[in-house]
Amino acid sequence: MSDALFLRPIRPGDDTGKFSLGTPEAQPLKSFLKNQAKDYHHKNVAKTFVLVDSPDDSRVLGYLTLVCSEIKNEASTRLDDCGDANKYTTFPAIKIARLAIHNDLQRGGYGRTVMDWCIRHVVENIMPHAGCRFLVTDAKHSAVSFYKKCGFTMLESEEKNKHPIMFVDLHKLTASLPSAQK
Ligand SMILES: CC(C)(COP(=O)(O)OP(=O)(O)OC[C@H]1O[C@@H](n2cnc3c(N)ncnc32)[C@H](O)[C@@H]1OP(=O)(O)O)[C@@H](O)C(=O)NCCC(=O)NCCS
Repeated sequence: MSDALFLRPIRPGDDTGKFSLGTPEAQPLKSFLKNQAKDYHHKNVAKTFVLVDSPDDSRVLGYLTLVCSEIKNEASTRLDDCGDANKYTTFPAIKIARLAIHNDLQRGGYGRTVMDWCIRHVVENIMPHAGCRFLVTDAKHSAVSFYKKCGFTMLESEEKNKHPIMFVDLHKLTASLPSAQK
């Protein structure tokens, strides 16, 4: 396995059938990649990006699926710099609908690499063109620590939920970056 991995949009010829996640709990993530990801990507329902060894490799080592979304404007997300826009009950967001790293590669830093790529992708390719204040996800309980390590915060109202909503405020994140990284 090379150290340099690539993320690119999923392609019709990609080998999604052998992707393994180990636990039965993760079966829906495996099944989505095998049965729906390519079709949803083509039909603009959900966009999937695959982690591969090289751009022309078809063996999927991990994947990320993004959709348009929104987040409730409640106490834990209330924005002090949005002025009149705080009257709205929701704010625009991009949602990480699916994220998974192949069994054999988990805990090797690849999840964080995919997340860094995801944030850069949203900041550079979506935020300049459409209102998009947050990156959100409905986290599995087993992945909450991972998301916290990647800078996500849990909505206060979500602590007891099976898949708690977690978010990153992209505007605040980009405002805190040195200008060379923006
Ligand atoms: C969750 C997942 C995407 C994380 O990817 P990964 O490559 O294993 O994570 P990384 O190695 O990049 O970990 C980044 C940090 O999070 C921590 N972390 C990762 N998974 C963790 C877990 N389950 N519990 C606690 N900490 C975890 C790592 O220790 C690391 O911390 P560090 O920077 O202090 O060393 C991956 O384990 C996976 O695919 N899991 C099964 C499917 C799943 O749960 N997907 C999430 C759906 S919401």
